[in-house]
Amino acid sequence: MCPPAHFKVTYSINPWMDPTKPVDLRLAVTQWEDLRDRYTSLGHTVEELEPDPGLPDMVYAANGATVVDGRVLGARFAHPERHAEAAAHLAWFRSHGYTEVHEPEHINEGEGDFAVTGSWLLAGRGFRSSPLSHNEAQEFFGRPVIGLNLVDPRYYHLDTALCVLGGDEIMYYPPAFSPGSRAVLERLFPDAVLAEEPDAGALGLNAVSDGLHVLLPQAAVGLFEPLRERGYEPIGIDLSELLKGGGSVKCCTQELRDAV
Ligand code: ARG
Repeated sequence: MCPPAHFKVTYSINPWMDPTKPVDLRLAVTQWEDLRDRYTSLGHTVEELEPDPGLPDMVYAANGATVVDGRVLGARFAHPERHAEAAAHLAWFRSHGYTEVHEPEHINEGEGDFAVTGSWLLAGRGFRSSPLSHNEAQEFFGRPVIGLNLVDPRYYHLDTALCVLGGDEIMYYPPAFSPGSRAVLERLFPDAVLAEEPDAGALGLNAVSDGLHVLLPQAAVGLFEPLRERGYEPIGIDLSELLKGGGSVKCCTQELRDAV
């Protein structure tokens, strides 16, 4: 995670970002600290990346890399405003003992567009990550990549429209995907939790699951009951200030899937 010490909305690279709307930086910091403390109180270790004053979107740490079995696929950002974040993430991994670190050739925005299930690597495309990054990820991780087309600019990253709950169990918002990609999701995940517009629109799918607890935007109330029915414990989190940059719980959280 990366503290939002320099968070602001001064440019707009997704429909959620409105530079004319004020951001309460102190509240953003408090909300972010609540999320971090929630992870630690659940027994998870949180590593912090040093924020850079020139990179206001750095708080969305999920975009900086994808880690599977200790192998690190670095990011390459689509927008120049975020280019420099990629190097900061790579440097962190290299200085923390990760030896399998791949600097990508093609644009991929880390876990913004890559989601790891028990069997597959789900990969979004359409707004940010290049379709060419899918093959690059498949070669690097040796996991089958399932490419999914995103079609609604409000759901510009895969993690705004789909969340892995555990193993091959997911929740997602069907209208964010092209008809063919929806058919793929139905085929692979016939028992998925399907989100409705009010919950998806509150970025309710931008959630993090540890297989038991699901931390998600608290406004996505419609997802709580379906999650409980499947044995998960939903935990509502208020990240209203960070929503102004187009991200929530998952965007702020990059998962370190170390080799076991
Ligand atoms: N303002 C950031 C951007 O548009 C938000 C990134 C959100 N991160 C995410 N994992 N969806 O790039």
